[in-house]
Amino acid sequence: LENDLNAKISAAPDERALEDIRIAALGKKGVVSEKMKTLGKMSPEERQIAGPALNGLKNRIAEAIAKRKDVLEEAALARQLEAERVDVTLPVRAPGRGRLHPLTKVFNEVAEIFAAMGFEVREGPDIEDDFHNFTALNFPPEHPAREIHDTFFFPPREDGEKMVLRTHTSPVQVRTMMTEKPPIRIIAPGRTFRCDSDQTHTPMFHQVEGLVIDKSTHMGHLKGTLEAFCREFFGVKELETRFRPHFFPFTEPSAEMDVRYERDGAVVKIGQGDKWMEILGSGMVHPNVLKACGLDPDEYQGFAFGMGIDRLAMLKYGIPDLRGFFSGDQRWIEHYGFAP
Ligand code: PHE
Repeated sequence: LENDLNAKISAAPDERALEDIRIAALGKKGVVSEKMKTLGKMSPEERQIAGPALNGLKNRIAEAIAKRKDVLEEAALARQLEAERVDVTLPVRAPGRGRLHPLTKVFNEVAEIFAAMGFEVREGPDIEDDFHNFTALNFPPEHPAREIHDTFFFPPREDGEKMVLRTHTSPVQVRTMMTEKPPIRIIAPGRTFRCDSDQTHTPMFHQVEGLVIDKSTHMGHLKGTLEAFCREFFGVKELETRFRPHFFPFTEPSAEMDVRYERDGAVVKIGQGDKWMEILGSGMVHPNVLKACGLDPDEYQGFAFGMGIDRLAMLKYGIPDLRGFFSGDQRWIEHYGFAP
């Protein structure tokens, strides 16, 4: 019997066949188990001889099965490894690489240029209250100036304060002045919102705000800083600029800054040419704004500016339509995006 079982065990082709053999030998009704049952009917003397012999048989068979099982498992593993073999010498297929959105690129460029001039980055919430977006910035209550911003309104807050999607990044000026002590030198990039939509306007767009507050900051600093920024940003040595008087409630005097440009086919060249392009709004921070933020206008003064980042990205990288920026079209980002 033992030889017969051993022969079957070593011939078992796989683990299932081996399990069948195990049940047939050692299972409840297996041949070995049936023999064990006969022990009960034997005389004590017979049992003393047959017991250890049968137990030995049972143990040897169990061991033989376990050994065969190891061998079969190893063989199965080897077969699997062979089947799933990876040829590491095959040339790799290049993985698809993400690209930087032109806006991210421009944000980074702007932040780097201003960082070199000692500016830090501050951020504020997209959902603002009326105080930070308008009142502290010297917009008179119920003044039509609030309307020119085409504001998206929310239902009022519990305390009655009107809530809006911020129409510009200027509220970050207010938040910074209210929480930090001058000297202040910050830029504040972020999303801004106005109900407007055509080829050059989207309801969501992006600005970078700038704010400098110190004891003797003046208009010359404003012009020098912004001209230095533009030369760096557009990569031109010679850059003619023009500051045109303008009106913002939160700056006095206020000016829009234009740069010279010319069109060379589809390409816009900044710095030279016979045309002027407006690129940002700026001015000296209005004394009422300083006061609203807890700063003494007799001690401190400064300048602020705000520019449309989407516009700058279009200009610098020759992107014709603003709406592509937010379409989420993979082909657009493949075309206009940048390698990280
Ligand atoms: N907040 C102004 C706008 O959105 C831009 C600006 C910022 C003007 C700071 C002056 C100073 O048009």
